[in-house]
Amino acid sequence: MEEGKPSQTALMVAMLRARHFLHEPEPKILRDSLAGLLGGAPEPEQVTRYLEQIKGAFTALSDANTAVRFVSQLEHSVCIRARLVEEELAKAKERGATQFVVLGAGLDSTAYREQDLLSGLEVFEVDHPDSQRWKRDCLKNGGVDIPDNVTFVPFDFENTTLKAALSLGGVDSSKITVFSWLGVQMYLTDEAVRGTLAVMAGFAPGSSLIMDFVSPSYETATSEQKSSVDDLREIVAGMREPFLSEYLPKELAQRFDDAGFSSSEFPTIGEFADQYLNGNLNRLEMHPKAKYLAIARI
Ligand SMILES: C[S@@+](CC[C@H](N)C(=O)[O-])C[C@H]1O[C@@H](n2cnc3c(N)ncnc32)[C@H](O)[C@@H]1O
Repeated sequence: MEEGKPSQTALMVAMLRARHFLHEPEPKILRDSLAGLLGGAPEPEQVTRYLEQIKGAFTALSDANTAVRFVSQLEHSVCIRARLVEEELAKAKERGATQFVVLGAGLDSTAYREQDLLSGLEVFEVDHPDSQRWKRDCLKNGGVDIPDNVTFVPFDFENTTLKAALSLGGVDSSKITVFSWLGVQMYLTDEAVRGTLAVMAGFAPGSSLIMDFVSPSYETATSEQKSSVDDLREIVAGMREPFLSEYLPKELAQRFDDAGFSSSEFPTIGEFADQYLNGNLNRLEMHPKAKYLAIARI
């Protein structure tokens, strides 16, 4: 990340959620009504303009048609992962969860638009202080209050101890907790990923983690077809947020075991198409067997 600036990848994924909310036909996967505001783009044209630039960056690495497909894949994948967290929160409340910790929260807006879902939960948004500053400013400019159950915990995954930061922020490891860790693993070293998983695994039984991960592209691309990950890797490096680790699902499953999680699941894109899009896999334009999300249980 560039010092003093919000995460550029956090901006990009917020804009993708904003486009989905504004223009995706029903059934929408996610309804992130605050994504544009938090991305600094309260007007729909600003979202369109921003995404034209992102499409241009993809086009420069491939061609216009591929760029459209890759940006659409990215949009759907960021919406699916956020939806999965919403569903896990509802289930976890029934198991007695009382904390929701959003690690690398970026411009995630769950806390500001899903207040019924989050009632009875303490919410901790853990992120780099530069990204948090931007988010607070956008919320203020948009007249959105920070709910009483939300606490901002400033943190740098590479330079601070997560355990210390969480306890300083008021997070209690004896409480059943849902961790959301979306769009962060790939920007961290393997050491930081292992350290973070070890801290989460020390939380109360019944706690869970939803995270996405980047796999080396050979996992789902055929030899003649490159994957969006190949171009995304270059684009985010240009945003000075390079990928620092990539895992095959079995490698990540091993990390969960090593950290002390009791189980993990890796749902496929095909399963999400069935659940969220009435089986309309074409809308996702992704390989039905692709796996990029994990649910790990403590
Ligand atoms: C792609 S964004 C994802 C944001 C959010 N979770 C979402 O899904 O919209 C990546 C996030 O990771 C955070 N991040 C990356 N490296 C970090 C580090 N070393 N310490 C703290 N946060 C970091 C950034 O601040 C940013 O908010």
